[in-house]
Formats: sequence, structure tokens, C-alpha cells
Amino acid sequence: MTFDSSSGSVDDPLFESGHRIFANKDLLKIGHVPGADRIVGRDEEISKLAKRLNGAVHGYSPENVMIYGKTGTGKSLVSKHVCQRAQNAAQDGTDIGIAYIDCAEDNTETQAISSLTTKLNDESTTNISVPHTGLSTSKYYKLLWKTLDAQFDSVIIILDEIDLMDDDSVLMKLSRAEEAGKIDCSIGVIAISNKIQYVDNVNERVKSSFQHKELFFKPYDANQLREIMYNREDAFQDDILTEDVIPLSAAFAAQEHGDARKAIDILRHAGEVAYEAGAEQVREEHVRQSQQHAEKDRFRELVNGAPTQAKATLLALTELALNSNDDAFLTSRVYDQYEQICHHLDMDILSVRRFRDILKEQAFLGVVEIEKINKGSAGGIHLQNRLIEDPQVVRETILEDSRMQDWIRE
Ligand SMILES: Nc1ncnc2c1ncn2[C@@H]1O[C@H](COP(=O)(O)OP(=O)(O)OP(=O)(O)O)[C@@H](O)[C@H]1O
Ligand SMILES: [Mg+2]
Repeated sequence: MTFDSSSGSVDDPLFESGHRIFANKDLLKIGHVPGADRIVGRDEEISKLAKRLNGAVHGYSPENVMIYGKTGTGKSLVSKHVCQRAQNAAQDGTDIGIAYIDCAEDNTETQAISSLTTKLNDESTTNISVPHTGLSTSKYYKLLWKTLDAQFDSVIIILDEIDLMDDDSVLMKLSRAEEAGKIDCSIGVIAISNKIQYVDNVNERVKSSFQHKELFFKPYDANQLREIMYNREDAFQDDILTEDVIPLSAAFAAQEHGDARKAIDILRHAGEVAYEAGAEQVREEHVRQSQQHAEKDRFRELVNGAPTQAKATLLALTELALNSNDDAFLTSRVYDQYEQICHHLDMDILSVRRFRDILKEQAFLGVVEIEKINKGSAGGIHLQNRLIEDPQVVRETILEDSRMQDWIRE
């Protein structure tokens, strides 16, 4: 097929010339690292982290840091930002390497080390070629040490979402390499987790070799969330956002726990909703729709990810709710229905006690609500269970699981 390209670029009405709503949507991408002037309320964290890494700028050892904080509190952003600045500030003659590993993706020791080596190795300088896969873990470590020695005085390695790694020995081996005389280059690790107890649970040997300082990131308040979004308003075309859009997105995200990721997601999605609806501006109603959508997604994720026994438990509640006028049911009644489902699906039947634990856990996750009712001195205390979301929606979500589908093929 050939095209007549002689006419150069033409304004073809089939395609829009620019986006009606967004001017630069990249500013609202989660991995985007905004410049210092767009980072809100993290001056103290930035300067504390910089202090820990200061050694690297002068060619001696940076300290290891463990960063904790709930989701969307700027941990990844601040770490990347400070590392970039350390690299730029490195004194003449000092070479700093920076590598970012997302442990959700590279979640085994071999993958993480292979990925680190590939990212840090500049083949034209080192003459080392690193195969992406196929080598043993120890070979990758050897290549990593060689690569580091050939290029850097120090490196800073960000291990993001470290709690998702299936083995903590990476922390130990990286911290011991210099001490064990394996390399000449100093290594600083920034390990990030949203599980506060992460370090308590790692292996003792790892704990003793990974000497580190800790930094905690607090959630944002509604004002900070608003400012974070105002700082990225230029993601949208001029005058596209009506004045309530940012404050409302901030209010929703503050309700969650002060999560900047959520705030930015709601804002971006509100823009998409407005675009799909053919609206001239992004308005409050688009933010509300965007928020509802986010809630449904979160809920679907929870139910989809639940273990099979929990799905059978929830399915029992949906059957009861859809076949009666009530919406709350005594645990014993839910258990009877659960037993029928397990029989039908040929599943193990848990004891009443374990069954109660599942209900409690689902209540903790916000899928079920449990209410205590007191039936007087003779009757004692009973628990009533109710689904928080629409039972029809819960049922549809559960039946997306192929193991549960036999329930409807009667
Ligand atoms: N202080 C801030 N100023 C400007 N933008 C911010 C700030 N904090 C977070 N953001 C933005 O919010 C989003 C989420 O931040 P980030 O990814 O750093 O959170 P996190 O703490 O690493 O969360 P998680 O634990 O879920 O990985 C990103 O788009 C980031 O750019
Ligand atoms: Mg993160």
C-alpha cells in the first residue's frame, strides 16, 4: 500500500487537532516525577533523605534508608527526586549511579539483580554484556560488582515496594558487598514499603547487616492535596476545570487517608469522563462519577482477589439477600447457605469458627458489615451480616471466577 504524502500534514477533520480537555496528560501519570517547584509539603523529608545520601555526592558511602508510609504519600516520588538531585550535585570526578527497581515487577532475587545490572551497565564503558535472563543469581551478582567497579564511586539503589520481594537476602548482599571486599564502589539502598512492620519481619541475618535509618511519610491533608493538583493544572487546557473540581477531588482523596495518587487519579479520570460525555468543561458531576468508578474498581479488586472460601462465603450472603426482603442475616443462616454452596461446588466446608473469621476479615476489608444484636438475657448476643455493596454487583463479580461458575449451572 502506498500513501500520497506530497501534501505534508493536513488538518483532517477525522482527527482532532489537539485534545479538547487535556493539554499535557503526562503530568497526571503516576510515574511522572514533577520538578521541585511542583512538590508540595515534603521539604523536611527531602532534606532528611538528602542528608543520608550526602556521602555519595562526595564519593564516600551513602547511608541505607528505609522509607515507610501509606500509599500515595510521595515515597517513590521523593526518592526518585532526591536521587536525581544527588546525581546532578555530584562533585567533579565523582560518579554516582542510580537505579530504581520496582519489586512488584522484579520480585525474585535473580530478577532484581539482573534488572539492576542491566540498568546500571553502560556497555560502551564497561565492555560487559549482560543477558537479561538465563544466568544464575550468583553470576548476575558477579556481573553487577564488575559493572559497578568499572563505572562508579558510589551507587544509590531504590528498592520500591520491597515487601513484595519473595526473598530479603538482596538487602543483605548489597549491604555486605563493600565490607566483604567484593567491590570498591559504595552502595546505598533506599528501601520503600507501606508495611510499617516490614523490617521486624525480615530474617535476623538480613536485619543485622542492613544497618539503616528510617523515615516516615505522613498522609497529606486536604489543603496539601489541593495544592498538589493546582500545581498540575496545566495538564488541562485553560479554563477547562470549573472551580469545584480540584477541591472536590481533594476532599474525596482526603477521606480515603490523604492519598495523592488517589487525588490525581480521580482528577485525571474526571477529565476522561468529561471528554467521553462531550462536555465543554470538567465539572463537579464528572468528579463524582470518577470517584464512584474508583470505588467500584477498588471493591472489584477486593472481591476478585479474595480466596475461594471467602468467595463462597460472600456468595452465600448474595443468595440470601437476593432471595429475601432482608439484607442482614444471622451468621448461622449464612453458614447454612454456605454449606449448600460448598456441597454444590464440591469444596471443603470450613468449621463455623473459621467461617466466622472469614466474615470478620471481610468486614475488616469493608466488604461486609457485622452488627451485634442483643436478644436479651436468654437469647444472648448474635451477629448479623450484611453486604455493603449491591448484592447483584457482588454476585456478578464472584461469578467471574471460573471455579464459582458451577453454582449457576444447576
Ligand atoms: N508532595 C507531592 N507533591 C506533588 N505530587 C505528589 C506529592 N506526593 C505524591 N505526589 C504524586 O502522587 C502520586 C503518588 O505518589 P507516589 O507514587 O510517590 O506515592 P507512594 O508513597 O510511592 O505510594 P505507594 O505506596 O502506593 O507506591 C504520584 O503521581 C506523585 O507524583
Ligand atoms: Mg510508590
